[in-house]
Amino acid sequence: MGELVPIGRLSDFPEGKMKKVFIKGKELLVANIGGTFYSIDDICTHEECSLADGFLRGEVVTCPCHLAQFNVKTGDVVQRPATGEEIDSEPTFNIKVEKDQVFVEI
Ligand code: FES
Repeated sequence: MGELVPIGRLSDFPEGKMKKVFIKGKELLVANIGGTFYSIDDICTHEECSLADGFLRGEVVTCPCHLAQFNVKTGDVVQRPATGEEIDSEPTFNIKVEKDQVFVEI
């Protein structure tokens, strides 16, 4: 098990929204989907745009740059970028909630 690092309070992560957090030299995307928290690396595996600057619909985030899509629960590629290349999936991170505090495990 990794280290649990606090990233904010529950109220910082409204349901249906995603947020970028900077932690230990990483940029992570944290999403609240139906009251459950998920996290993937925020840097698009295509050309390094920030996924948190894109759009979240259900459990799928769309990169604002070339519209690649990733599942925020699994990190899997849902759709390749508009440019057509194969891209890697995103690493995922565990989120834990204790009382009002949200932690990421890294
Ligand atoms: S940088 Fe994300 S799709 Fe190109």
